[in-house]
Amino acid sequence: MAPSKPHPQVHPVDGPLGIMLPGLGAVATTFIAGVMAVRRNLAKPIGSLAQLQTIRLGARSENRSPLIREFVPLADLEDLRFGAWDLHGENALQVARRSKVLETPMIDTLATPLERIAPYKAVFSNEYVRMLKGEHVKQGKTKRELGEALRADIRDFKQREGCSRVVVLWTGSTEVFRKPSDVHRTVAAFEAGMDRNDPDISPSMLYAWAALKEGCPYANGAPNLALETPALTQLARDQGVPIAGKDFKTGQTLIKTVLAPMLKTRMLGLTGWFSTNILGNRDGEVLLDPDSFKTKEESKLDVLKSILQPEMYPDLYKDICHLVRINYYPPRGDAKEGWDNIDLFGWLGYPMQLKVNFLCRDSILAAPLVLDLVLFLDLAKRAGLSGPQDWLSFYFKSPQSSQAGVPAEDDVFIQHRALKNMLRWLGGEKPLTHVDFDS
Ligand SMILES: NC(=O)c1ccc[n+]([C@@H]2O[C@H](COP(=O)([O-])OP(=O)(O)OC[C@H]3O[C@@H](n4cnc5c(N)ncnc54)[C@H](O)[C@@H]3O)[C@@H](O)[C@H]2O)c1
Repeated sequence: MAPSKPHPQVHPVDGPLGIMLPGLGAVATTFIAGVMAVRRNLAKPIGSLAQLQTIRLGARSENRSPLIREFVPLADLEDLRFGAWDLHGENALQVARRSKVLETPMIDTLATPLERIAPYKAVFSNEYVRMLKGEHVKQGKTKRELGEALRADIRDFKQREGCSRVVVLWTGSTEVFRKPSDVHRTVAAFEAGMDRNDPDISPSMLYAWAALKEGCPYANGAPNLALETPALTQLARDQGVPIAGKDFKTGQTLIKTVLAPMLKTRMLGLTGWFSTNILGNRDGEVLLDPDSFKTKEESKLDVLKSILQPEMYPDLYKDICHLVRINYYPPRGDAKEGWDNIDLFGWLGYPMQLKVNFLCRDSILAAPLVLDLVLFLDLAKRAGLSGPQDWLSFYFKSPQSSQAGVPAEDDVFIQHRALKNMLRWLGGEKPLTHVDFDS
């Protein structure tokens, strides 16, 4: 979407916004409890651009830098309503306690509203997530029936919570690696595949299909194949619904997309990048399955090539050895530790090394991304945007491009500039080109 196009008319916020999350796990409950805590002034929404960041408008001399949330019409945190699906019947309070991300006193304070959030039964298949056992799962003869049952849940939730709009965001486990096949080529082929239970249609694709059919914006926080299939991308366009994916850019890949542009802007070379992690939460356990890990690995590996462009800079970046490892290590729980060893070279080819040790918290980094994505997708829908939203690439490891055959942008700084310029355009202001420092 080119910001030089006429500014869109953005429909105002009209009543509560529903958020439905397939996958009520550590990320989902840290997000939900976090919003509740912020509403009660118990904590600040750190990490959320939508809540905390300002946006410069016009020339520097104009001194106009409102908060993003005061510049574009976003749903208010008080107006968010939460729903979910999960194959374990536990409510959000039970999951938050078990996930051990947030401290007990905070969870105790929020116990009553968290307890009220009970998941709908999931659409689940062990062929797609092998490490979990489904107990709270929908039964249906065909994938069409299951998809229709998800649509009914969305309608039920919307009515029950009195929401005028619903956004759906996948916070479920990483499914096994799949390549697109014929059934993903068109909407008609996909829907025919649902009727005959095509094995290449995954549960996460059914959630996406149901959301799009209900006119709900959809984002994919995990690396599974779904929205980027031609069938679901087309369905989003046909339904006039914005989508964004995939795989939250939180820890190690966030660092990678900061450091790789630094190497490239200074024309420093790279021979190797070894990334390894230890992680002890349920996400780490699911990634013990090599086929789920492969989905994650593919998502993590792509970014370096796309940022460094070895085809344009063979002297600097051809034959990079890039390895990524994730080890499930229960004692760490959600407190992930990542190490990066970067072998680079400078003037005349002299080698150097850079080491990064990030002791992070997985769900604490992911929760504000869920909030921003939900608020910005709702804004996009009210502005009449549909299909993949390039400006939301900022949040993803494997961003989906809106143009077939044109790669998405992975450099976090370019992504950030694109996001802000899109917001300027949506708010009726000129994009900033930075051609001279006062523009
Ligand atoms: N935390 C991060 O920094 C981060 C970054 C990138 C991606 N992710 C992805 O976000 C997702 C959620 O992470 P998490 O730490 O909350 O994991 P989690 O294991 O705590 O939660 C995932 C939940 O999804 C449920 N689930 C699985 N399949 C489902 C289905 N078909 N329908 C409904 N529910 C289903 C599981 O029962 C589980 O409760 C994972 O796929 C993870 O890879 C997380």
